[in-house]
Amino acid sequence: MSKKILVSGIKPTGKLHFGNYFGAMRQNIMAANNTENDDYENYIFLADYHALTSVKNGDELRQQTLEAAASYIACGLNISNKAILFKQSDVSEVTELTWIFNNLVTMPYMMRAHAFKDSEAKDKEVNVGVFDYPVLMAADILIYGADIVPVGKDQKQHIEYARDIAGFYNRTYKVEQFKEPKDLILESTGIVPGVDGQKMSKSNNNHIELFSTEEDLKKRVMSIVTDSKAPEEKKNPDENNIYNIHKLFLTADEDKELRTKFENGGYGYKEAKEELFATILKWREGKKEIYDDLMANPEKILSILKEGGEKAKSRAELTMQKVRSQVGLE
Ligand code: ADP
Ligand code: TRP
Repeated sequence: MSKKILVSGIKPTGKLHFGNYFGAMRQNIMAANNTENDDYENYIFLADYHALTSVKNGDELRQQTLEAAASYIACGLNISNKAILFKQSDVSEVTELTWIFNNLVTMPYMMRAHAFKDSEAKDKEVNVGVFDYPVLMAADILIYGADIVPVGKDQKQHIEYARDIAGFYNRTYKVEQFKEPKDLILESTGIVPGVDGQKMSKSNNNHIELFSTEEDLKKRVMSIVTDSKAPEEKKNPDENNIYNIHKLFLTADEDKELRTKFENGGYGYKEAKEELFATILKWREGKKEIYDDLMANPEKILSILKEGGEKAKSRAELTMQKVRSQVGLE
């Protein structure tokens, strides 16, 4: 029996932070690692073609791609013979398939896409890459014959587009070429707050990077905004930024214990921040060393990506040979 296929992509758009980790990465890694001993083949890629819609600097994109790959490996993505980690652009066939798909979707259909509508509503100059984003993503997913695609809620519509496009193609060419993939909507931790309590985001500059230096990490943690309650006062943990970030790292028992400290009083903000800093350092144990080692030896990352890219490309090429013949290019 042939193996089932899991496909997921991550845009390398900057240094990864704990919003990315708890909101997306952790779930992606768990989904890919979980299927490790089952009959799954896992394709996990750095969506650098997609990143081009916003990143307009070659050195930046190269660097961010390395950082994102190193972060995923350091955070535990199991690069065995089952999890294939690669660069989207190492499989140039996806752009070829995107072009073929472009001729099967209409403008009104594309204009219904949430991401496009949101960009337009913000009065942004929407580039054609942003408009065509869902088609490129459908090509990413369908070219490997994905059965399941783990994504956050915000990506659900993109998987619907991939299913639609599989159907448009199969009906147009009267073939059973593309399987309709299912989304695996990952339970996210909700919105991770930043040091100012707003959504953690690079663009808000309120983020805590996963693998910054210990010094920078400490500065960030100590800058978490609080009210002016004195140490001895009782505090409501749910209204507290330090707690709302700290709880993400804790087991249920540890969480209960931390809540009690806030609620009982006698737990000042300085102490609370120092404890959070210690928790993050503990979380980074082992991971930061792997990350630093990979970033100091980028050839290690490049060789993992190259090997992954070759495997992915050979699978994509098999699909494209059939597609080129079906559409009449060959
Ligand atoms: P940023 O807002 O820093 O630019 P991205 O938009 O590149 O981050 O985020 C990539 C993924 O990380 C998103 O798909 C989202 O699921 C997740 N993510 C980012 N920030 C948060 C957050 N504060 N809370 C939860 N998830 C987040
Ligand atoms: N659009 C996804 C995001 O912004 C990234 C992505 C690109 C992706 N191609 C994919 C995710 C294919 C899953 C499958 O998060």
